[in-house]
Order: sequence, then C-alpha cells, then structure tokens
Amino acid sequence: MVCVRPATVDDLLGMQRCNLLCLPENYQLKYYFYHMLTWPQLLFVAEDYSGKIVGYVLAKMEEESSEIHGHITSLAVARTHRKLGMATMLMSAAHRAMEEVFDAKYVSLHVRVSNKGALHLYTISLGYRISDTEAKYYADGEDAYYMQKPFGGHVLPEHKKKKADS
Ligand SMILES: CC(C)(COP(=O)(O)OP(=O)(O)OC[C@H]1O[C@@H](n2cnc3c(N)ncnc32)[C@H](O)[C@@H]1OP(=O)(O)O)[C@@H](O)C(=O)NCCC(=O)NCCS
Repeated sequence: MVCVRPATVDDLLGMQRCNLLCLPENYQLKYYFYHMLTWPQLLFVAEDYSGKIVGYVLAKMEEESSEIHGHITSLAVARTHRKLGMATMLMSAAHRAMEEVFDAKYVSLHVRVSNKGALHLYTISLGYRISDTEAKYYADGEDAYYMQKPFGGHVLPEHKKKKADS
C-alpha cells in the first residue's frame, strides 16, 4: 500500500534520499527547506506501508514572472514503485494546489530530451506541451525541453529563455 499525501518537514530527508537515488540533479537540504518554508502546499510525497518515502514532487511558484505560474523543481519515484500511477498522482496534487492556493495560470518544468518515460508522463498523461528547447541546460551538456501546461483554458504566454534550477 502506498499513499500520496502533503509532505511535512519530517519528510525532507526521505525526499532528498529518493532524489539522490533517482536523479543526477541533486540539491542541498537547505533547498528542500526553502521550498517547504515558502510553498508548503506544493510538496507531496508517496509513502509506502513502512513509512519509507518512495516518491516526491518538489514545486514552487515563479515570482519574477509577469504572469503567476507554478514550476516543478523535481519529481521522482523509486524504481520499485514505478508505473503504478504514483508520479501522475503526485503531479496532479501539485497542479491542484498551484491553482487553488496560488491562482496559478499555468505550470512549467524542464526535462532532459532523452527522458522518454518522463516525456510520456508529461505529454500524454498530464497534457504538457513542449514550448522550447534549451541547449546544454544540464550540467553534463544535455539539452532540456521547457514544457508548459495551462490551467483552466488559460492561453500560455510566449516563453522567454531563463536559466532555472531543475
Ligand atoms: C518519470 C517518473 C517520475 C515516472 O514515474 P511513474 O510513477 O512510473 O509514472 P506513472 O506510473 O504515473 O506513469 C505515467 C505514465 O507514464 C508512462 N511511463 C512511466 N514510465 C515510463 C517509461 N519509462 N517509459 C514509457 N512510459 C512510461 C506510464 O506507462 C503512464 O502512462 P499512461 O498514463 O499512458 O498509462 C519515474 O520514472 C522516475 O522517477 N524517473 C527518474 C526520475 C525522473 O526522470 N524524473 C523526472 C525528471 S524531469
């Protein structure tokens, strides 16, 4: 049994552990705390029957932009729990909170162009579209797709290139 629920401060180490096991983009613990202190409504975890964190979504609001929108900083699900709908549930929970709590008009994210599994999730399952390709976005030189998903029939603004942290 796995449940998807809002994260608490006590989950941050488990989220960081899951991130280290799943992704090359890692963050210091203070970055998780920064998210939790600033946008506590936008962090969700998947927890297994023993209390272990087996998935998380770390998200934030973009405040410099003229149009209020959310951004997915990081998403991962442990190998043992993939293709069970966990990522879809985590992302849907973050989307809902962005709209309901912050009145977000859309959500954005970056993804490696080679990440076929995540691209399926974002485009087919969740309705994101590719808005741009950002060359050498990742530290190892791989390009990123910048993707956006509008909320509630909103028309997406034109994307202005900017370095982000995911
Ligand atoms: C990408 C990732 C988050 C998907 O998590 P998940 O819990 O397995 O995803 P879901 O079970 O919700 O699957 C959603 C959809 O994507 C599909 N999918 C998931 N992984 C896939 C893969 N490797 N290849 C093809 N399709 C895949 C599922 O079949 C499902 O399709 P459907 O909605 O048409 O049935 C997970 O593989 C992961 O953590 N990968 C490593 C970290 C990562 O890449 N994070 C994203 C960085 S941008």
